[in-house]
Amino acid sequence: MKIIKCKDALEVAKEAAELFEREIRKNPHLVLGLATGSSPIGIYDQWIADVRNKKISFQNVTTFNLDEYVGLDQNHPQSYYYFMQEHLFRHIDLPQDHIHIPYAQKNHLKKSCKSYSEALEQTPIDLQLLGIGANGHIGFNEPGTSFKQKTFIVNLTEQTRKDNQRFFTDLSEVPHQAITMGIAEILKAKKIVLVATGKNKADAVRKLLSEEVTTDFPASALHQHPDVTVFVDEDAMVLSS
Ligand code: GLP
Repeated sequence: MKIIKCKDALEVAKEAAELFEREIRKNPHLVLGLATGSSPIGIYDQWIADVRNKKISFQNVTTFNLDEYVGLDQNHPQSYYYFMQEHLFRHIDLPQDHIHIPYAQKNHLKKSCKSYSEALEQTPIDLQLLGIGANGHIGFNEPGTSFKQKTFIVNLTEQTRKDNQRFFTDLSEVPHQAITMGIAEILKAKKIVLVATGKNKADAVRKLLSEEVTTDFPASALHQHPDVTVFVDEDAMVLSS
């Protein structure tokens, strides 16, 4: 695991965005795994600026998102479908039919998990972007999840619901379930980039850097992968240095 220490969140975003762009220039048909949450927003802003300045094109790129809340309509401002359209997709030249996000409407859940796993088998991810939850979750793989897990319906922990409450008006509105890509599928990506910024990630970063591998801390599965780069800022490193 390669650790890149940056001054602040802006530097993390710039450095990580540049790594992705270098890979896209090497292979314009790259398959990307994408994340939601606040951590990737700076990266997406950089990509948007660079598409506008014609520094990069996503025309031939394919994307797979990590997860989606169960039961939120795609037009719900907190659905990850909506998030991705707002923060990235509608601003860049990525064709809409190259986009994959788990379809998490109530009567389709099992079928959606199966078809997402099949799509990932057919179109393996070259480069996966990850954030990290305060409890070490990646995607929505909560503590206790097997590292062999494929796409599944997850019951969100209260901590995760509370952490994500800031995006909703009230805790009662935060869904109790999500569909997430499994840890096994995340580990299948050829290359993985994780970004963590801010003091509220310091404990998770400390645990990740401790190198202990345990299902109690899902991000520790990344130690089993040969090509992981972690971008952290000074605030996220306060408990580690
Ligand atoms: C959500 C997402 C994760 C993300 C995590 C951290 O739970 N499912 O993919 O890594 O939030 O979010 P943030 O970047 O907002 O701290």
